[in-house]
Amino acid sequence: MKLLVIGSGGREHALVWKLAQSPRVSRLWCAPGNAGTQGEPLAAGGIAENVAIGAEDLVSLLAFARKQCPDLTVVGPDGALALGVVDAFQAEGFPIWGPRKAAARFEFSKAFSQEFMRQHGIPTARSGTFTDPASARLFAQQLGGRCVVKADGLALGKGVIMARDAREAESAIQRMLVDRMFGEASREVVIQEWIEGTEISLHALCDGSHFQILPSSQDHKRVGDGDLGPNTGGMGTYSPTPFLSSSEWEKMAHEVLEPWLAGCQAEGIDFRGLIYPGVMLTADGPRVLEFNARWGDPETQVYLPRLENDLVEIFLACINGTLDQHPLRWFPLHTVCVVLASHGYPGAVERGKVIHGLADVAPLAQVKVFHAGTTRFNEEVVTSGGRVLGVTAWDTSLGAARDRAYAAADRLCFEGMQFRRDIAARGLAFAPTV
Ligand SMILES: Nc1ncnc2c1ncn2[C@@H]1O[C@H](COP(=O)(O)OP(=O)(O)O)[C@@H](O)[C@H]1O
Ligand SMILES: [Mg+2]
Repeated sequence: MKLLVIGSGGREHALVWKLAQSPRVSRLWCAPGNAGTQGEPLAAGGIAENVAIGAEDLVSLLAFARKQCPDLTVVGPDGALALGVVDAFQAEGFPIWGPRKAAARFEFSKAFSQEFMRQHGIPTARSGTFTDPASARLFAQQLGGRCVVKADGLALGKGVIMARDAREAESAIQRMLVDRMFGEASREVVIQEWIEGTEISLHALCDGSHFQILPSSQDHKRVGDGDLGPNTGGMGTYSPTPFLSSSEWEKMAHEVLEPWLAGCQAEGIDFRGLIYPGVMLTADGPRVLEFNARWGDPETQVYLPRLENDLVEIFLACINGTLDQHPLRWFPLHTVCVVLASHGYPGAVERGKVIHGLADVAPLAQVKVFHAGTTRFNEEVVTSGGRVLGVTAWDTSLGAARDRAYAAADRLCFEGMQFRRDIAARGLAFAPTV
């Protein structure tokens, strides 16, 4: 089979790496990919190849598909889904994995998701949706000022302001609804009560009629150790989380996903792809903060090394509506991913820094370095973005996986490299013996 993966981040490198292990894959392209996706060896022989087409360049992606006729295309990022890449490929008969635009709305409209959750009884935060600043202010006041103000649309992961008091809420409302700091994306805002708890990532594959949950994982959103500093795309992950037993995990997931799937069916939303609700675990049960309609990054990096199934089979089952016949099987391993980021991230970063040590860590056992913002320049691998590498390791205990990941991270360097030293610390503190 010929496969095309759309995207260029750590998530896409992990997808390429896992898909390349399928004996069914004879060609594998990644558009546009990064320095890690290029050359990833295929189990069937040959290597994965990058194609210089941007993930949101639908015209060129379609032209490529017409020329190469991929048997399966896999979409990584939210932007391409929101543009309707799935609809466009399907219209021309190219099999593609991911939700259509109407179903991807769970991610690209927080107002839509919030209303959906209200209508279908999905546990969420107390919230309201506003276009009018005066009503928004009034609601923020009713919440006591301390609240979370969210732009409705996609805002590159920067559209959420956590307001600690009424003054900060007022300023967030002003900037989003009046000054339109995110343009059309903040024409409407969702305001939620600020929920305390433990944040975890729930992922489920869905084929329109069935879902299958993935194991638990936890991201580290803040840039600094101890969860300090600004929010990022994610600085590291581990799986599974020891806070919940697997039966508690399943119970929690079903509490969220059963009403979600029933709601989809009631509203005629045919969701085929991966649904990823961001969840806060509270004393009163789970609360969904938002939905994503694609794999998490860097959650993908800790899931795929644990997945035993052939991912090609699973994606085809999602497309064909037969996911119930393909139970997911997981290796009993713990995985940890430590993100190495550029100086200045999540703000502006410099690019083009030479990355040292990649050849040194390549032979390490139970370690895989997933590339994100990397590119090749004159025989060298250089940085090309905020998040640069996701150093991922697996082992039979969380502590051992963590140690392996950090031992590998310590052998890598580039000018301005920064990373968190406490990935998985929360899990280890909870259950030091796992
Ligand atoms: N209601 C809430 N209470 C507490 N923290 C929140 C709440 N909503 C969002 N957050 C925090 O803000 C982060 C980003 O918000 P989220 O809704 O996931 O939007 P996005 O991922 O699109 O930026 C979350 O990962 C979480 O840490
Ligand atoms: Mg989020």
